[in-house]
This record gives sequence, C-alpha cells and structure tokens, in this order.
Amino acid sequence: MPLPTQPVLECHAVSKQYDSRFVLRSVSLQLAPGERLALTGPSGSGKSTLLNCLGGIDRPDSGDILVAGENLALLSSDALATLRRERLGNIFQFFHLLPTLSVRENVEFPLLLLGVPAPERAHRADALLRRVEIAHRADALPSTLSGGEMQRCAIARALVHQPALILADEPTGNLDSRNGAIILELLQALTDETTTALILVTHSEEAARICHRGVSLRDGVLQNHSA
Ligand SMILES: Nc1ncnc2c1ncn2[C@@H]1O[C@H](COP(=O)(O)OP(=O)(O)OP(=O)(O)O)[C@@H](O)[C@H]1O
Ligand SMILES: [Mg+2]
Repeated sequence: MPLPTQPVLECHAVSKQYDSRFVLRSVSLQLAPGERLALTGPSGSGKSTLLNCLGGIDRPDSGDILVAGENLALLSSDALATLRRERLGNIFQFFHLLPTLSVRENVEFPLLLLGVPAPERAHRADALLRRVEIAHRADALPSTLSGGEMQRCAIARALVHQPALILADEPTGNLDSRNGAIILELLQALTDETTTALILVTHSEEAARICHRGVSLRDGVLQNHSA
C-alpha cells in the first residue's frame, strides 16, 4: 500500500477583510506534491490577497493555512521566515529581480539566505540558467535582459532551493504571447521534473491549461471549476 503523501498546502476556511469588506470568505483548498492549480477570477476578486496569505506575506483574519504540515499562524516570525525561504518560491508579473545583482547572483540569492556554500550555489544556479536557456547572460545585470529573459531568471530563482510550492502571480501578464508560452512550458516541465506544486494566478486560459485543475474567486468566494 503506498504511503499517504502529506499535502503541500492545506487552507481551511480562510477569511480576510479590508476596511470591513470581505476580500476572502471561508476559502478552503488543498494541494498535493507536484500539483498545479490555476487560480482565476476578476480583478479585485482577492487572488493576490489569497496568494499572499498562502505565502505567509499577509495574515488572514481567521482560518488555518498549513504549508508542508506547518500551521503558519503558530510559527514565530523567525520560523515563518525560515519556512518561506526553504519551502516557497515566488514568481511575479514584474519579475522583482534585484537590480544591482547579476543574473547568476539573483538565482543564487535564495541559496545565500539558506547558507549554502558558494561553489554549490554557483553550480546549482548555472545548471538552472542552462535549463532555462539564459546561461549566456549569467554575468549580465537584469536591466539588460528582455522581459522573457527576466522571467526565465525569476523561474530559476524560484526553483533553485527546491521548494515544495511555487506561488506565481500572473507570471505571463507582462510578456508577449510567444514569451508567455515559453515561460508556461518551462513552468510545466520544471515543476514536473522536481515534483514542485504550483499555484498559478492568471487571467489567461492559455496559462490555465498547463494546470491539473482550476478554481476561481468571485467576491472572495472560491469556486471549483469542475463543480
Ligand atoms: N492592503 C490593502 N488595503 C485595503 N484593501 C486592499 C488591500 N489589498 C487589497 N485590497 C483590496 O482587496 C481586494 C482584492 O485585491 P487583490 O489584489 O487580492 O485582487 P486580485 O484578484 O489580485 O486583482 P487583480 O486581478 O487586479 O490583480 C481589492 O478590492 C483591493 O482593492
Ligand atoms: Mg492581483
């Protein structure tokens, strides 16, 4: 009998208000290792707020969020920071690369925070830069890259420390369709290869297609697409 696998993420009845208006209403969801979930919904429906709560950047008013079995609300701020560094990777619409660091240094950065020795950092960063096909730009500053190259760098950075879960907020929102398609293919292939779970916030049906299932938010209420 196979061992039951622990969910990467469990979210139970999470609610959050801004200015006494509900932005999330009793949101519950679970994610298994390697599972890709598309999160859609109109602008202002709470997608980024949910992603920020799941990533421990924001706190819900009520409900529980467990990442790799750890209840975020019960962790000290140090323990939460450690969990985020070890278990999570983030990808953003506007890349959020560190402008004064080279491409390689950006990718190494999560490993630097985890105390990984320099030779191993460089080795792992270079392997991923080759995988996302920007090894030839490793010594360049991010400002000299194209948008598609910046997002490849951001994908390498999000995966370099082998997180359990990647939270991606509209990662193709600032790219043309060709580069968007390349980014989606890379996200699909790399999360498959590493059994990394992914939550993909997207307005694009094309993007949602790389996911195993989809949910959408309407006025803070989560709906299952299959329901
Ligand atoms: N810090 C904040 N203070 C007050 N209201 C906020 C705050 N952050 C978000 N909101 C509000 O919460 C609602 C949900 O915002 P959120 O950014 O989660 O939406 P979204 O679904 O990500 O939208 P988009 O598709 O435009 O990115 C919006 O009405 C927004 O104005
Ligand atoms: Mg948003």
